[in-house]
Amino acid sequence: MSHAVPTGRRSSFGTLFPRVSPGAKFVPPLRGVAVVRGHWSATLGTRTKACQGWGTRRFLYPTLATGNKNVARMGHPARVNLHSTRFIQLSMSLNLFSPLKLRSVEFSNRIGVSPMCQYSSEDGFATDWHLVHLGARAQGGAGLVIVEASAVTPEGRISDGDLGIYKDEHIAQLKRIVDFIHSQGARAGIQLAHAGRKASMSVPFGGERLLKPEEGGWQTVGPSAVAFSPTYSVPQALDQAGIDATVWAFGAAAKRAVEAGFDVVEIHAAHGYLLHEFLSPLANQRTDAYGGSLENRMRLPLEVVERVRAVWPEHLPLFVRISATDWAEGGWNADESVELARQLKERGVDLVDCSSGGQVPNATIPVGPGFQVQFAERIRREAGIATAAVGLITEAAQANEIVAEGKADLVLLAREMLRDPYWAVHAAAALGEAASWPKQYLRAAPHKSPARGAV
Ligand SMILES: Cc1cc2nc3c(=O)[nH]c(=O)nc-3n(C[C@H](O)[C@H](O)[C@H](O)COP(=O)(O)O)c2cc1C
Repeated sequence: MSHAVPTGRRSSFGTLFPRVSPGAKFVPPLRGVAVVRGHWSATLGTRTKACQGWGTRRFLYPTLATGNKNVARMGHPARVNLHSTRFIQLSMSLNLFSPLKLRSVEFSNRIGVSPMCQYSSEDGFATDWHLVHLGARAQGGAGLVIVEASAVTPEGRISDGDLGIYKDEHIAQLKRIVDFIHSQGARAGIQLAHAGRKASMSVPFGGERLLKPEEGGWQTVGPSAVAFSPTYSVPQALDQAGIDATVWAFGAAAKRAVEAGFDVVEIHAAHGYLLHEFLSPLANQRTDAYGGSLENRMRLPLEVVERVRAVWPEHLPLFVRISATDWAEGGWNADESVELARQLKERGVDLVDCSSGGQVPNATIPVGPGFQVQFAERIRREAGIATAAVGLITEAAQANEIVAEGKADLVLLAREMLRDPYWAVHAAAALGEAASWPKQYLRAAPHKSPARGAV
């Protein structure tokens, strides 16, 4: 998504581009794209080295992630002299620090904290751990903080330490967290989840294993009586009443999310949990209306989306996280994800969060920096819906490029946010962007950083 900016006009982001004509000199925008046609010469970065060219040349700014605007332009013209140039076009790409608006909600930047289970709850209740953990990342400047997978039923918890949103008593603690996130200028999201056949596990800190009945373990459910692996329990295939109750539970959880003040609800349909299990032939072997064809396998996730959209306020955005592929023969694949994304869009979903895997333990996953970005890019292009990219995104320049090159609208980080809760303000410094800081911390912030305001 880049916006062509006529020269001499104010762009939608408020930057005034110079009017340029043959014989003129101009300084390209700090971020965006400049296309020069004709005969030009240029001064590069802080070096006074000149270069010249003839024909069409495209320059993308910034090219390097540094706090120094001139260095950021190194290798690309800091100043361009137009000789017999006939035409010049400047367009301003969005970048990581461009605001994002979905429905009525404006996010101050395109950095989100990906949902991360903390296994720190009892009976689904949020604790001080959640307040501090999520609050610190809001202080750190992320535009969106998504609360971890929150179970819509007690049986939908991965473990007995999972967060839940299955009873009204959960709302007050969640509201406290949302209010703090808002005080830090960030938007608050919550992921609504049902773990399906991967439920009833111990918290992973002492080694993950199936909970025994005497430890409080419970009967898991899924599309079919097929276990995830020999160390997991065999789920009970949901009957129609169980399916209806699941749809209802997601809707009831979404209503509680409204009460708690969340700005975003994300439905978890990824990582081999219940809704993803229905999508994938590797877990779904049903022969009724919920299994077999793609249309049938998508039925439950789409019913859940319709139910949530019906109770989630019209002015608030709805996300769905998917595993874009199972990375396994005979499993859910990227073509099906594109079709699912189209169906989600028709039902009022605003953004597809593109993860992958988790359906089978023996998947072959080509893990590497940004390895899932391709799915966010393809779904965005082919389904025409906003996407989030996630997975091994750790560097400011890497995240910036994903947005600037139109591969995704939002970038989510998980483990890097655990290593550095202040990743967003550090990324701003690296990219030469001004980011707001909590007023209490301004004395440690880069010179002239604005104080953070609440949303
Ligand atoms: C501790 C931890 C807990 C996680 N819990 C969730 C979760 O609740 N919901 C979810 O969709 N993904 C969860 N994930 C996956 C992350 O959201 C993210 O998709 C994944 O870690 C890849 O991003 P990264 O490379 O930035 O870590 C979790 C990851 C970690 C490390």
